[in-house]
Amino acid sequence: MSDNTALDYMSAVELIRSRTSFRPEVGMVLGSGLGGLADTLTERVVIPYADIPGWPRSTVHGHSGNLVFGYLEGKPVVAQQGRAHFYEGYSMQQVTFPIRVMHLLGVKTLFLTNAAGGLNQNYRTGDLMLLNDHINFVGMVGSNPLMGPNDEQFGPRFLGMVQTYDRALRAVAKNVAREAGITLHEGVYVCLSGPNFETPAEIRMLRAIGGDAVGMSTAHEVLVARHAGMRVMACSGITNEGIDSPDVDLETNHEEVLDAGKVIVPRLTTILKGVLRHL
Ligand code: HPA
Repeated sequence: MSDNTALDYMSAVELIRSRTSFRPEVGMVLGSGLGGLADTLTERVVIPYADIPGWPRSTVHGHSGNLVFGYLEGKPVVAQQGRAHFYEGYSMQQVTFPIRVMHLLGVKTLFLTNAAGGLNQNYRTGDLMLLNDHINFVGMVGSNPLMGPNDEQFGPRFLGMVQTYDRALRAVAKNVAREAGITLHEGVYVCLSGPNFETPAEIRMLRAIGGDAVGMSTAHEVLVARHAGMRVMACSGITNEGIDSPDVDLETNHEEVLDAGKVIVPRLTTILKGVLRHL
């Protein structure tokens, strides 16, 4: 049984405070192949995850493992360059540990990004999708970071999930995308545990239940962020299109996910900077 009160968030906060007096208002989680955005922050202070007690480290290629403080569009930001995943063997509480630390550092608005497979047949590799909802399969079957004793200092026992992906932030993001000529879909993210990619039958099922994109992160981080009252915006980079037939000569792989990240980063950067300007 997991006990989230046992995690020592304050030791992480203290280490960070000993390195920087920076007070971030916006947090960013940069997913697979998307960490490059953190390199564009100014007046950067970089803290390797390995230095922060309790911070889960990603073992996955394409995740750098730094917490980066700095300014983007004049706003004080902290960015996670890479994240840990449930499939790496961490508990849900460990995976979402950084979200609570960001909350304790004063972060009020959280932007999450991820690499995702396209389920919606109108989505092409390189497109972006703003999450307007999610289906959290992993949480629904009992791997939920909010399980265990509820720590009232963070939030309520029973969390409403209707107002999850901030409508005002979505509206701003859509305007920014329109002005910049960037394709920004809006849709439902399905969270699975991974680490394997989906079978064709799973792709067809996820489509049938209303999923637009599928990935292995984000939903649990969103739960913890909303529990703590943060405003949340999340955006998927579509790195590959779901393959819905076993009778084709194709296979989903991590290299294509990282490759697509290269075209996605500049688009995502434009969207996130545009939204920051409007905050
Ligand atoms: N499935 C699950 N997670 C992913 C995918 C995918 O096709 N692409 C990138 N992350």
